[in-house]
Amino acid sequence: MMQADVFTLFPNWFDWFLGQRHVRNALTLGSSVEAVDYRDSTTLAGRSVDDTPFGGGAGMVLRVDVVDWALQARYGVDSVAVGQQRRVVALTPGGRVLDEELVVELAAAPALTLLCGRYEGFDERILERFCTDQVSIGRYVLAGGELAAMVVLDAVLRKLPGALGDAASAHEESFSAALEGQPEYPHYTRPAEYRGWEVPEVLLSGHHARVAQWRREQSRKRGEGGR
Ligand code: ADE
Repeated sequence: MMQADVFTLFPNWFDWFLGQRHVRNALTLGSSVEAVDYRDSTTLAGRSVDDTPFGGGAGMVLRVDVVDWALQARYGVDSVAVGQQRRVVALTPGGRVLDEELVVELAAAPALTLLCGRYEGFDERILERFCTDQVSIGRYVLAGGELAAMVVLDAVLRKLPGALGDAASAHEESFSAALEGQPEYPHYTRPAEYRGWEVPEVLLSGHHARVAQWRREQSRKRGEGGR
């Protein structure tokens, strides 16, 4: 089970995400995902949360005091200490790139806090003082961390027991230990032949050992090809 909080300027973006089946399943089984609005705890005029960068330059930067207030309001302790109780992850384009290993690591955490930045990102002191991790979903820049947070949560929540209808599908999926970290083998379903395109004969053979061996080979081949 996982208690996840996402701090954002756009909490209603998560309404859609929270309605998805595997997310709802995880919530039914005792996990939680809550979107927390930075604006709810800011004391700045006009509920402001960001400001122009010192030294000049384009865009706006999320303020350290705003994040401090938000963490303190949520957890009731000094924001600097929150990282001792739970992983505090800032979504940044330059962070540790999300992969299967990191997903498994995050899924093992009982409590997770995700911080979304906007505009030009975070005041550096937020990252230095409050965060245990910085995570990137790839080396490109999004308008904000919200979509990245959903990607992280999607990948993490489906690792939790019971989130998927069929537990085996998480066990033997791409990059899992069961597949020795390789991508998944190809899948086929009906029709067995379509426009002359045939399903590999071995899959129709009903021979479980041969099927398993074929899948392992395919998985390995894909890993070598990097596809
Ligand atoms: N925020 C902006 N771009 C991002 C990215 N690529 N990954 C995570 N957070 C981001």
